[in-house]
Amino acid sequence: MQGFQTTLGVNIDHIASLRQARHTPYPNIRRAIADAEAGGADGITIHLREDRRHIQDADVYLARECVSTHLNLEMAATTEMLEIALQVKPDYCCLVPEKREELTTEGGLDIDKHRDRIALVCETLHAAGIAVSLFIEPEISILESALQVGAKIVELHTGGYALATGDVQQQAHRHIVQAVEQGTDLGLQVNAGHGLALGNVGAIAAIPQIRELNIGHAIIADAVFVGLKEAVRAFKHTINGAGQPFNSK
Ligand code: PXP
Repeated sequence: MQGFQTTLGVNIDHIASLRQARHTPYPNIRRAIADAEAGGADGITIHLREDRRHIQDADVYLARECVSTHLNLEMAATTEMLEIALQVKPDYCCLVPEKREELTTEGGLDIDKHRDRIALVCETLHAAGIAVSLFIEPEISILESALQVGAKIVELHTGGYALATGDVQQQAHRHIVQAVEQGTDLGLQVNAGHGLALGNVGAIAAIPQIRELNIGHAIIADAVFVGLKEAVRAFKHTINGAGQPFNSK
C-alpha cells in the first residue's frame, strides 16, 4: 500500500487560452488559481510556451505571488526559460519538449538527444532550490536516462493511454503501471499527466506509487458545463433588471 495520497496539480493554461483568444483582461488568472485551490487542487501548473500562446510572462509572476499550494512551471529546457525560472523560483519545474507547430505537448523528452542541456538545466534549477521533473514516455530506458541526467522526479506521459481505446488502452495502461514500478524502484518520484479526464483518470489514480497527476484541459472543459447555467442566469438577471440606459440624461 502507498503511504501517501495521490495529489492533483491543476493546469490552468486554458483559462489563459480563452483570455488570449480576445486579448481581454478576463478570465482572471488570480481567480482561476483561487477557485482551483478552493476546489482542492494540491498544486497549480502553468506552461510558459515559447510562442506565449496562453500563459504570459506576467501570469508566471502573478502565479508565484498568489499560489498558496505549490507552483509547477512547465517549460522547455532553453536558456530563456531557465532565466525566467531562476527569477520566479517556482516550487517545481517540469521540463517538456516543445515544438511551435504542436497543438499541445505531443511526446516525452528525448533525453538521450539533449542529454547535456537537460543535465545542465536540472543541475542549475536544483542548485537554486527548485525541484525538477522530466516529462517522459513510460519506458524503462528513458527512466534510466532521467536518473542519469540527475532527475529525482519524472512525469509519465499518459496521452497515448488517454487517446487509446479497448485492448490498445489496456496495453498502454500496463506500460504505465510497469514504468511507475520501475521508476519507483530506481528511487524516482513518479507523477503522470496529459489527456486525463474523468472517464480515464481512475485507472491511473489507482496505481499505488503515483504521487501527482497533472490535469488541465478536461478540468477547464468540464468547468464550462458545471458553470454555464449559472453564468447565463446571471446575465439574464442583469439584463432583466437593467435600469436606465447609459448616457440617458
Ligand atoms: N503534463 C504536461 C507535462 C503537459 O505538458 C500537460 C499539458 O500542458 C499536462 C500535463 C496536462 O495535460 P492536459 O491539459 O491534457 O490535462
